[in-house]
Amino acid sequence: MSRFMDVRYASLEPYTPGEQPRDRKYIKLNTNESPYPPSPRVAETINAGEIDDLRLYSDPTARDLYGAIARYYGLQPSQVIAGNGSDEILAFAFLAFCGQKGVAFPAVSYGFYPVFAELFGVKARAVPLKKDFSIDVGDYLLSGENVVIANPNAPTGIALPLNDIERILQAHPNDVVLIDEAYVDFGAQSAISLIDGYDNLLVVQTFSKSRSLAGGRIGFGLAQQGIIQDLMAVRYSFNPYNLGRLPLLAARAAMEDREYFDGCRGKVIATRERTKRELRQIGCDMTESLANFLFVKLPNVSGEYAYNRLKEMGILVRWFNRDGIRDYLRITIGADAEMDALIRAIHTIIEEAEK
Ligand SMILES: Cc1ncc(COP(=O)(O)O)c(C=O)c1O
Repeated sequence: MSRFMDVRYASLEPYTPGEQPRDRKYIKLNTNESPYPPSPRVAETINAGEIDDLRLYSDPTARDLYGAIARYYGLQPSQVIAGNGSDEILAFAFLAFCGQKGVAFPAVSYGFYPVFAELFGVKARAVPLKKDFSIDVGDYLLSGENVVIANPNAPTGIALPLNDIERILQAHPNDVVLIDEAYVDFGAQSAISLIDGYDNLLVVQTFSKSRSLAGGRIGFGLAQQGIIQDLMAVRYSFNPYNLGRLPLLAARAAMEDREYFDGCRGKVIATRERTKRELRQIGCDMTESLANFLFVKLPNVSGEYAYNRLKEMGILVRWFNRDGIRDYLRITIGADAEMDALIRAIHTIIEEAEK
């Protein structure tokens, strides 16, 4: 920290993103990206003259993209806000709603929640998970604070059913309940169908995972108009051009290619279920993940050892050096051949540990 940094940030612990290595070619299963390229319509759309138009600012109303998202989900464009990754929508929500009341979220969840709370001076209540890593909904029924829940949760992959989300919404008539659905397209129930009934619900999704556009940095929030207008007020006070021309076009093309999207997520789900079966057969323990990653414990070796040994073998996964989850690895679902290599490598590590 230089002597110029505001003392408010003296204890700020920034978020640590997963490695994006350049030292060698890895099988990269550490940041929950899609193994499949974006819809071919993305390249077709971007080639069509938009490059010349980069001299012009992008559309701050993002009208075409909001229209495409609204059509897809059966909402009005006024119920949509898009951001530079869903991280930005989360940041806007912390800024717009959490300053006075604070926010509750699971103690084991997406690492950005506590970072945003710290950065924006928001009081945070980090609620422990149950022993089996599931969320106890009863812990989130205290009205007077906002709630953020990733559904499915990360890094566990465990999802809450819609009636649990509804219980939380009903307990918080005057607070915002943010459901972060970064991974919902891989098999969990979306809360979007509850938006019309609850003016305190904000659903956040992303193009980074199921729509293969992590590098495009596009996420979005869906809610009744009131919440969207509040988020817009923050957005226009921060960066009205938060999405460039290329991401706007890419996102719209991806949203409109429903068939391609369904094909990719179907393949990821099938690969996930097969990988679960095969890893369990060789003795691994794991949660019942409905996301595009698994949360896995190898028998007889520590999480740290398994992470390092896999890296030596050219496979990158995510290990969190945190109490309660230190023995687990978070492994992104890659293409079938990548998962075959992973299963072989894990088998080798287990055999080595038995010697
Ligand atoms: C639960 C959760 N929410 C949000 C995000 C942010 O995604 P993005 O900013 O790429 O949309 C991630 C990324 O890994 C995540 O795991």
